[in-house]
Amino acid sequence: MNVTPQSAILPEAGPYSLVCVFNLVGNRDKVVRQCQGLFEVAEKLNQQHVSACVRLSFGFGKAFWQQFEKGCPNDFEEFAPLGSGDVTAPSTGGDLLLHVHSNRHDLNFHLLSSFLQPIASEVELIDETNGFRYLDARDLTGFIDGTENPKKQAARHEVAILPEGPFAGGSFVMVQRFVHNLPAWHAVHVAQQEKIIGRTKPDSVELDEVPADSHVGRVDLKEAGKGLKIVRHSLPYGTMSGEHGLLFIAYCAQQRNFREMLSSMYGEKDGQTDKLLDFTKAVTGAYFFVPSTEMLMQL
Ligand code: HEM
Ligand code: MG
Repeated sequence: MNVTPQSAILPEAGPYSLVCVFNLVGNRDKVVRQCQGLFEVAEKLNQQHVSACVRLSFGFGKAFWQQFEKGCPNDFEEFAPLGSGDVTAPSTGGDLLLHVHSNRHDLNFHLLSSFLQPIASEVELIDETNGFRYLDARDLTGFIDGTENPKKQAARHEVAILPEGPFAGGSFVMVQRFVHNLPAWHAVHVAQQEKIIGRTKPDSVELDEVPADSHVGRVDLKEAGKGLKIVRHSLPYGTMSGEHGLLFIAYCAQQRNFREMLSSMYGEKDGQTDKLLDFTKAVTGAYFFVPSTEMLMQL
């Protein structure tokens, strides 16, 4: 069988992203037709604007996916809330995820507008976040984000895409929108910030001794000598007068890689939490399944 991953997954994130989470409130089939049709809209935009590189993917929340009677990919679970005290991650759900990235902020908006206009009464848009590449691919904390992300197409494919079985060509995606406390972060000396991340600030070199409670110390996990990998597409978002932070979005062929990283960050493995979480807080959290393009077109 010929299977094609949806187009946002494998290419490196463009400089502008748009991540939207919807709940279904009306006619399911109208919404699905609109999802299927959006690839053609994107294709036309790419023909008219040759360097735009508009890429997109649709993911389905578990409850919504189960309505299609395609069966459920092994391992597909809802996002479970994590943590305690001040270090928590909520589960905010969502039926449908739209992830767009491109070289053009205006075309991302245009694509969402063409998607939404005919089905405005069928869905509720519960979170809409425009991301932008910041400086040389830094998070708003000033640290380079993406250094250890798989780069080559083959490696990204191996990490992100289900290789076989009924859901081949599909992927799991995790989304968390983080709101940063930048005044608190900037009050910390750079040498200490580096211990919180586990890498140097100017050039993202891993520290000789990565602290166990640093971000890298929490998420660089190994099983039987092999690193647990994910393909990250996160970008900074927001305004200075309002909320700002990181829209974390990543793809993986196994949902459990996310669960392992999250339980390590939120203190559910060994009681230690990720020190980065003292300076940023997740306000959304959800998992979606992203079927292959062919399976999406058959729904
Ligand atoms: C690495 C930032 C949330 C998974 C990194 C790095 C930075 C960073 C600066 C080091 C450079 C790199 O390799 O990319 C952030 C920020 C976050 C966040 C600012 C939220 C505010 C998460 C979450 C996960 C995650 C929620 C997974 C559940 C990873 C992984 C690496 C990484 C797998 C690579 C580790 C390695 O192999 O060395 N992140 N991250 N991050 N992050 Fe995050
Ligand atoms: Mg590493």
